[in-house]
Amino acid sequence: MGVRSINAGGYAVHIGAGLRHEFAARIAASAPAHTYAVITDDNVGPHYAAPLIDALGAHGTVSSHLVTAGEENKTRTSWARLTDELLDAGCARDTTVVALGGGVVGDLAGFVAATFMRGVPVVQCPTSLLAMIDASLGGKTGVDTHAGKNLVGAFHAPAAVLADVEVLATLPLEQRRSGLAEAIKHGIIADAAYLASIDERIDALVAGDAGATLDVVARSVEIKVTVVNADVRERGQRKTLNFGHTLGHAIEQATGYALLHGECVAIGMVLEAMLAERIGVAASGTVREITRILERAGLPTKYPATLSAADVLKATRHDKKTRAGTVEYALPMRVGAMAENNGAWSVAVGDADVRAVLV
Ligand SMILES: NC(=O)c1ccc[n+]([C@@H]2O[C@H](COP(=O)([O-])OP(=O)(O)OC[C@H]3O[C@@H](n4cnc5c(N)ncnc54)[C@H](O)[C@@H]3O)[C@@H](O)[C@H]2O)c1
Ligand SMILES: [Zn+2]
Repeated sequence: MGVRSINAGGYAVHIGAGLRHEFAARIAASAPAHTYAVITDDNVGPHYAAPLIDALGAHGTVSSHLVTAGEENKTRTSWARLTDELLDAGCARDTTVVALGGGVVGDLAGFVAATFMRGVPVVQCPTSLLAMIDASLGGKTGVDTHAGKNLVGAFHAPAAVLADVEVLATLPLEQRRSGLAEAIKHGIIADAAYLASIDERIDALVAGDAGATLDVVARSVEIKVTVVNADVRERGQRKTLNFGHTLGHAIEQATGYALLHGECVAIGMVLEAMLAERIGVAASGTVREITRILERAGLPTKYPATLSAADVLKATRHDKKTRAGTVEYALPMRVGAMAENNGAWSVAVGDADVRAVLV
């Protein structure tokens, strides 16, 4: 199984099965340093940190830093502790930070790298499917605050992204499903043939099969990178990556983060496709097609009966895309193509239509 390399514009993404055995050499090649600071969490570290730390030792001094797993630790408190630890370990300007973990470690370690000595390189080694196809790409880093998620942060592109699909074998099943929701989203917004290929191999993908997953990670990375690079300023096409996320985020908030992100996005994609059919943007049958593949992936597709439409509508108001009385949605025309709407890549939808699908 070969290594797939994708140019993300300024940095490369390398994806392979068993690539972790080459992480150290690739880190040293893409961001050579005196000191390497490996940041990981207590789920990922026990599986994968020791061999990496060992191998990096051939290239420089290595320090290792552990974060307790979980979104609740993606905080300024963790950032402060980590930066203190790096200073205590003798890290300086000639340090490269290595983020070994899911999106939480990636965002946190990325923010440490963005701010330490006013910025040192970070190599992202994403270990969750979501981090491989989404969080590690694009250079957004940051932490959560009491007022909301990702409110304090910085843009800090990685020196490289290294993804070993074999590590998904230890990722909990529900996390693999949740990551697949984003891959399915990529198919819906950009590539019907890709969506069909996910559908064909859904069981292998849910099981974390390395070969099937390698193809999916590579194609999803290509799609995200292409869309992001086509629209660096987030004015237009990048909004298509938000498909399923306006209502998905609202459900995530309204349920108090009781569901996984990908689960909320799955429900959000079905609801937003319903909106698109309802207002005549999407071809009929789009909802059915999206629902079918999500169900095959074992993802939820139904609006939680315990949630009131009013709570969800209220939560969409916090969305940064809100305009008075209506909310902007990135909507599909059909599977594989989003509504361009004269370059806006979003459509204003009134509350009444949203309420009608929240039943
Ligand atoms: N920066 C961005 O552009 C961007 C984009 C999307 C999401 N995010 C962020 O990413 C985070 C979500 O990422 P996530 O879903 O990876 O969450 P996560 O980092 O919490 O990982 C999910 C769980 O899986 C564990 N885990 C990860 N890899 C593992 C492996 N190989 N084996 C065993 N356990 C493993 C983690 O310890 C954690 O418990 C959120 O904080 C979100 O805001 C950022
Ligand atoms: Zn998402």
